[in-house]
Amino acid sequence: MSTATASEDLRNLVQSAEHSFARAATPAELEDAKAAFLGKAGRVTELMKGMAQLSVDEKKTRGAAIHQAKQAIEAQLAVHRQAMADAELARQLQAEALDVTLPGRQRGGGGLHPISLAWQRIEQIFGSMGFDVGDGPEIENDWYNFTALNNPPNHPARSMQDTFYVDMNDEEGHPYCLRTHTSPMQIRYATAHARKHAAALALGEMREIRVIVPGRTYRVDNDATHSPMFHQVEGLWLGEDVSFKDLKVTYLNFCKAFFETDDLVLRFRPSYFPFTEPSAEIDIQFQSGPLAGRWLEVSGSGQVHPQVVRNMGLDPERFIGFAFGSGIDRLAMLRYGVNDLRLFFDGDIRFLSQFK
Ligand code: DAH
Repeated sequence: MSTATASEDLRNLVQSAEHSFARAATPAELEDAKAAFLGKAGRVTELMKGMAQLSVDEKKTRGAAIHQAKQAIEAQLAVHRQAMADAELARQLQAEALDVTLPGRQRGGGGLHPISLAWQRIEQIFGSMGFDVGDGPEIENDWYNFTALNNPPNHPARSMQDTFYVDMNDEEGHPYCLRTHTSPMQIRYATAHARKHAAALALGEMREIRVIVPGRTYRVDNDATHSPMFHQVEGLWLGEDVSFKDLKVTYLNFCKAFFETDDLVLRFRPSYFPFTEPSAEIDIQFQSGPLAGRWLEVSGSGQVHPQVVRNMGLDPERFIGFAFGSGIDRLAMLRYGVNDLRLFFDGDIRFLSQFK
């Protein structure tokens, strides 16, 4: 075979390889095309086998020429492989395109319930005035909910509250109840505190108890201003020299902080509670703003009754002071301008999301 024919036949081979590579539509087709030229039974391999009969000199030139053709085919293959990979990458980028200039998707930001907001404010404000924050059971026994608070069995004061009873009796044979107020926590907290500081108490070194207890309370009641479950915050400050004056200053300062205004006044209105003597309702009046000019009842209060102090395991000759019990829901209604208590408990997101 002449050199010219030989090299022409190799040029054709390279060209034909290039055509098949170009026709391949997928990587698999490209690999098939590769096998047809460079594989074990491929056309290049066949040419190499065909050199067996050639002379040593012919082998040299023909071998070099085939090798060149082979390299040219391999180069073509590489070009097509790369083009295919580039096309695949472009396709993927297109499919998974991400427009970083789009505005971010809004995450529905949650918020605290207005009662929780009020509750937190109350803890924070009284905390700043040196009050501990207590916590106790919602299922209460007769002693703590009534008797220790000076409501002896059959005392008419007991019927002041419509009570949810639990179908189970305590050790004394009285049914447990859902606490009707947070006042039982006065006894629980003071008793526990006195026990914890028994040594200091005996030495006369336990000088005071100062605590608030926010929590859920329950009564058989349901209308625009009463819900069967509601929230109260109890306050108790006992010491050697704690008076109504301290109650007035404490409560007034609390209201100013809670409502974020100095423009309010406070008055005590005589009242009756079995666990305080004397007892008073606390009314406040805003001097400006939408609620200005009306007396608003915000809390029961009074000087802790000596028998109640005794029921705490403390000496009423040494420990004197005040207690108060306020409705957290009422405080929240006044602060946020809500006129129906039931809105707090309906779970309507349109209402609740206004407090975020
Ligand atoms: N426990 C009372 C109630 O639920 C509120 C109350 C009044 C609490 C006077 C007190 C207090 O601590 O001194 O109606």
